[in-house]
Amino acid sequence: EKGGFDHFMLKEIHEQPKAYRDTIRGRVHDNGRQIDLKELNITPVQIQNIRNVHIVACGTAYHAGLVGAKVIEQLVRIPVASDVASEYRYSSPLITPDTLVIVVSQSGETADTLAALREAKAKGAHVLAITNVVGSSIARDADDVLVTLAGPEIAVASTKAYSSQLIAFYLLGMYLAQVRATQTEDDIAQMIMALNALPEQVESMLENSDAMKAYAEQISHHEHLFFIGRGLDYAVAQEGSLKLKEISYIHSEAYAAGELKHGTLALIEEGIPVIALVTQEAVLEKTVSNIKEVKARGADVMAISHEEHIAGLLKSVDQAFAIPKTLPLFTPALSVVPLQLLSYYASLARGNDVDKPRNLAKSVTVE
Ligand code: F6R
Repeated sequence: EKGGFDHFMLKEIHEQPKAYRDTIRGRVHDNGRQIDLKELNITPVQIQNIRNVHIVACGTAYHAGLVGAKVIEQLVRIPVASDVASEYRYSSPLITPDTLVIVVSQSGETADTLAALREAKAKGAHVLAITNVVGSSIARDADDVLVTLAGPEIAVASTKAYSSQLIAFYLLGMYLAQVRATQTEDDIAQMIMALNALPEQVESMLENSDAMKAYAEQISHHEHLFFIGRGLDYAVAQEGSLKLKEISYIHSEAYAAGELKHGTLALIEEGIPVIALVTQEAVLEKTVSNIKEVKARGADVMAISHEEHIAGLLKSVDQAFAIPKTLPLFTPALSVVPLQLLSYYASLARGNDVDKPRNLAKSVTVE
């Protein structure tokens, strides 16, 4: 049942190339220049009228929403706010009929996410669900469903569901941009090419998982560590940190790289591991300055970036891990993979039950 893998989590990490292909398939026009989301009920006129977007979810799905928010803001240039469902539902959210509410849930059964969906619908929003389970409560109650085709996810720690949610957000963002003409057809065509390359790029990273395994064994002896990044890298850092906590039980925090100096730098001491995500070229130099700040206080820094930056980064960091090149917007779909492997191997090194971490359930149907 685990297909030759020791754990469901590792199997599911390896299923990501297939999950990406299945989620993309049928949603890209044969001409490679347009996105087709035929399953959506929302009309082009409704899309034209969207004034703002709220993205609501819990845990890992919320982290996918953080990426989705940046994707939609950049491609469509409309304001997007993200919130966790347990806050959103009690926050008297500012919803009008021109608000698009996107709920994200692997299981489609998370109690707070379902309640947030109902609250949004009652206030007149159009609600679109990104979910992995077609017949779920959230899929049934939403006005629109964009299904991730990741296949069943058994491990409690979400991997392929998260990354397939990213793919769903890319498709949705591109589709909204196409309808509102905020991106040209050439831009969309270029994005489709990059999107189609992702599955093979994930495969190539999975073939080289030894480096992450060795690094995981090294950090498994620590009790605290930090993830830092800017922009999309910060969004992925938050997911990397949650994954590590939930299955390795190592305490970690994800920090916006530029925010460390406003307090948290006090915790940086000799030998503390810092994992720096440095994939966003527009802010690369800024993150390098932040890396220097932690290095000066004795941190042991691992950088994750593209091959072309590795030699330069190695002047400031202790180790580096290269991920394949893609458009800046799409890097989360690649950079999360080494972080998943890191959590998996760190958990294993600490002798934990990888697929069934303590105190957690796969589907949280209590509030
Ligand atoms: C973490 C994890 C949880 C879920 C969260 C939401 O690995 O699995 O944080 O992401 O409980 O679950 P869904 O997506 O089913 O609503």
